[in-house]
Amino acid sequence: MIQEIPFRYEIVSDVDLLASADALLIKEARLITDQSYAPYSNFHVAAAGLLMNGAIVRGTNQENASYPVSICAERVLLSAAASLYPGIALVSMAISYRNLKGSSNRPITPCGVCRQSLVEHQHHFHQSIRLLLTGQIGEIYIIEDAASLLPLGFTADDMK
Ligand code: THU
Repeated sequence: MIQEIPFRYEIVSDVDLLASADALLIKEARLITDQSYAPYSNFHVAAAGLLMNGAIVRGTNQENASYPVSICAERVLLSAAASLYPGIALVSMAISYRNLKGSSNRPITPCGVCRQSLVEHQHHFHQSIRLLLTGQIGEIYIIEDAASLLPLGFTADDMK
C-alpha cells in the first residue's frame, strides 16, 4: 500500500496583497534582520510571531565562535515567547533574511531542527502555527500548519 501526504502552500507575490496582520509581521521580520548576530555566516535571519493574546514577539539568529552553539531565529523566537508569555500559543510566524548578496527575494524555509521545535510548540498548545516565509522583497510562501513541513514528525504521542 502506498500512502501519500499532500503538501499545500500559497504563494503571494507581494506583501501589500496580504491582510494587515500578516503584512505587519512580514515587515517586522524584514526590518529586524539587522538585529541578528551572524558574524560567521553573514546570513541574517529574523522571525516575528503573533501570539494568541495579540502580543508580537521577535527573534534573530544568534551565532557563536563555536558554530554548533548558534541558535536559529525561529527557536530564539519560540524561547522568547515561552519566557515572556508562558502558556500562550503562537498563531503565526513570519521569517525573513538578508545575506551578503544584499537583496534577498527568495523565501527562506526553516531548517529541520526548527521544524521539530515548531511541531513541539503546536503539539503542546494544540494550535497550528501559520508560517509566512519570505526574503527582503518579493513573494511570500504561506503554510497554514508548520507540521506539514515535517511529515510523519516525531512527537510526544510516539512515546506513549
Ligand atoms: N538560520 C536561521 O536562523 N533560520 C533558518 O531558518 C535557517 C538558518 C541561521 C542559522 C545560522 O546562524 C545561519 O542562519 C546560517 O545557517
